Amino acid sequence: MGEALGAAIIGCGTIFPPHAEALKRMDGAVLRVVVDEDRCRAEAAAGEYECEAAADYRRLLEREDIQVVHLCTPHHRHAEMAVELLRAGKHVLSEKPMAHSLEAALRISHAAERSSAQFGLVFQNRYNEASLKIRDMIETGALGRLVCMKGVVTWFREPGYYENSPWRGRWETEGGGVLINQAIHTLDLLQWFGGEVSSIRGCASADVLHDVIEVEDTVHAALTFKNGVRGLFYATNAYLAHSPVELELIFERGCLHQRQDRLFLSRDGEESLLCGPPFRAREAGGAGNSAGKSYWGNSHGRLISDFYRHIREGRKFAIDEHEGLKVMGLVSDLYRSSQIRRPPEVRE
Ligand SMILES: NC(=O)c1ccc[n+]([C@@H]2O[C@H](COP(=O)([O-])OP(=O)(O)OC[C@H]3O[C@@H](n4cnc5c(N)ncnc54)[C@H](O)[C@@H]3O)[C@@H](O)[C@H]2O)c1
Repeated sequence: MGEALGAAIIGCGTIFPPHAEALKRMDGAVLRVVVDEDRCRAEAAAGEYECEAAADYRRLLEREDIQVVHLCTPHHRHAEMAVELLRAGKHVLSEKPMAHSLEAALRISHAAERSSAQFGLVFQNRYNEASLKIRDMIETGALGRLVCMKGVVTWFREPGYYENSPWRGRWETEGGGVLINQAIHTLDLLQWFGGEVSSIRGCASADVLHDVIEVEDTVHAALTFKNGVRGLFYATNAYLAHSPVELELIFERGCLHQRQDRLFLSRDGEESLLCGPPFRAREAGGAGNSAGKSYWGNSHGRLISDFYRHIREGRKFAIDEHEGLKVMGLVSDLYRSSQIRRPPEVRE
């Protein structure tokens, strides 16, 4: 392995720890700078991870000892930062979503195409053992042709989650609600499994949090794939628990059902555990009561080290600007199809 790649992380909020921890454990990378416009946050993070703190990310542009920059900032900051960093030849690993709008995502894509550096996106659930197994079973045709699938996300975001974080819950800064933020992972998995989407139609609404947010807390959609597969999708932040994400895929000769990190196969009236931890007599806790954030999926570390491996080996990372644009296109189409179906105003 050559010289270690110098890394920086912009944004020291909620998602900062999985990035910093992955870098700490990885050979061939060293975290040199952490950036946050909230200087206290940057300094606290720098103290913990023994690196420099900065408040302005532009300081990274001229630094020759920084090759890779992680974007862990609010959605409306992604495009501005990614474009400048890519122009300066820095590899960018951005948290999802690619941006807060399709137009902003296109700006990143243009910058990535013109840059010598790579753009990668954190869709860590593609690295879950169950997701990889599902992809493998689709590709090998082990259960015959995929017929249809569904993804269900029922999580809980209380009003304080939005009230204490001004960028959330607003079109201008978050770019949407549960769809673009929490459930985008599941939408990405559905399109990764199903292939090219020919249409997506659905409805986004604020069913419970309408007094708190201007974006949606709930969304449902039907996806039609070019190969004839049908996908159904439902997501909400208006539940009162963090249920495990559920995926079901029906094939010609069997059914796969994923719940949390377990994948089950049903075939010929029998159900078996294909991957995931075996059951114990009485399991402690349960994902619904998770004190941590296991419902995000736990594959950040795997994705991050794979991104660095690709950079070191000069290979193109798979979850790139094109993959990001596909999902942003679906998000944008879904929001538009929802607006078309908005009912007429009720007259007094
Ligand atoms: N992959 C996942 O499962 C996952 C989970 C949670 C969050 N995320 C994503 O991570 C990103 C950040 O989310 P979060 O929950 O950590 O947000 P957060 O609000 O907790 O943290 C964002 C941080 O960025 C800083 N910041 C904002 N603007 C800045 C600027 N111009 N320069 C420097 N720092 C700036 C803020 O001060 C804050 O500390 C979002 O894109 C979010 O969707 C991904």
